Amino acid sequence: MDFLKIHHTPKLSGSINISGAKNSALPILTATLLSKNPITISNLPNVADVNTLLKLLEILGASYQHIQNNQIHIDTSSVHETRANYDIVRKMRASILVLGPLLARFRHCEVSLPGGCAIGARPVDLHIKALEKMGAQIEIQHGYIVATAPQGLRGANIMFDKITVTGTENLLMAAALAKGKTKIINAAKEPEVVQLCEILKDAGVEIEGIGTSELEIQGSDGELLDMQDICVIADRIEAGTYLCAGAITNSSITLHHVIPHHLEAITDKLEEIGFGFEISQDSLTLLPATKRKAFELITTEYPGFPTDMQAQFMALALVCEGTSTIEERLFENRFMHVNELQRMGANITLKGHTATIIGEEELKGADVMATDLRASSALILAGLVAQDCTQIHRIYHLDRGYEGLEEKLRSLGASVQRLKEK
Ligand code: EPZ
Repeated sequence: MDFLKIHHTPKLSGSINISGAKNSALPILTATLLSKNPITISNLPNVADVNTLLKLLEILGASYQHIQNNQIHIDTSSVHETRANYDIVRKMRASILVLGPLLARFRHCEVSLPGGCAIGARPVDLHIKALEKMGAQIEIQHGYIVATAPQGLRGANIMFDKITVTGTENLLMAAALAKGKTKIINAAKEPEVVQLCEILKDAGVEIEGIGTSELEIQGSDGELLDMQDICVIADRIEAGTYLCAGAITNSSITLHHVIPHHLEAITDKLEEIGFGFEISQDSLTLLPATKRKAFELITTEYPGFPTDMQAQFMALALVCEGTSTIEERLFENRFMHVNELQRMGANITLKGHTATIIGEEELKGADVMATDLRASSALILAGLVAQDCTQIHRIYHLDRGYEGLEEKLRSLGASVQRLKEK
């Protein structure tokens, strides 16, 4: 296994290109199961989760070719298999996103329950309940979701008790091929959900309410879609992570190929702390702060502050003046980075879902363990400002969602190496 070795890096500088969004690429890939024709997908991030999902689609019978860097041509017309096995789904929970499209297209499928992960139980009960409202018969057998809809799915009024990103995406894809109209109330509004709505609309699906929490989808009654070529939107969480790298070293860095509007919750919070920005249409330059003030943060669904940026801001709080508090409202166990940061000398206390961080304590490099994708990025940020050297182990978590991580950090001036465990 690989590990990252990071030396204290007082300043960063320069610019990097942000990759396509992992959390948009995944539903886009499963949506190709709804397409009658092959399509080209550009700006596809070369990360482990995307490659795992491509492997699953290939096992189901799809074929794809890499045309060039970050671009594939995919054809799902020969898909014949409708069972998504545990050995793949356990590696990448978002494989659950094949449930809606497989059921809508083939009227039956078996998808392994994804199981929990480091940050929480991650149930999919809301996905299942909503599909049952559309006429699916669903049973859980030996750890698999066994779903059938012999008459095909029919439009229904779906009210999500909780806002669920992949739940909304699964139901959008199911509704696109259903008979009649589906209304989704309390839908997720993340930019990645919006892009899925837009590609379905471009494929001829009538969708109202895009970008709002109330969506209306007129299904095609089983007719496959005429999908158009797609360019994946920029990854707002990758961008936010590098902004935090600039912020924690109080540097000026520039990110290209971003969508500034998608980053507003993050840039607003950085401005509150003391940073400035120069913003153009698809670039963002962070300007250093004269004083980095402690802050309060609560994670909520988009357009609120994203839970996927919580760990990174906890690392940033370590260099802010005063006491910061962070409340995690979406996941029950998304503080796995706290113990590791404490081992580096961080002064953090937890009470329920709220972390209290005393800033400006001296951080010392240490051997630390990555536990989940975003927690691992927080350890990198802390490693940049800690004295001496920090070694981050189990970095396969990072490879799931950050393309060319150490190359991008090195191009900003960070002292980071990827090495092999002995
Ligand atoms: C998506 O996960 C993202 N993953 C996550 O990003 C992100 O943290 C999360 O949304 C929240 O923004 C992808 O898009 C692939 P949810 P998802 O369903 O859809 C509860 C990353 O780091 N819930 O919106 O799985 C759930 O337990 C990953 O890139 C149910 O109770 O999250 C959670 O408390 C991590 N029942 C809340 O809803 C359900 O059926 C939000 O979960 C579904 C969800």
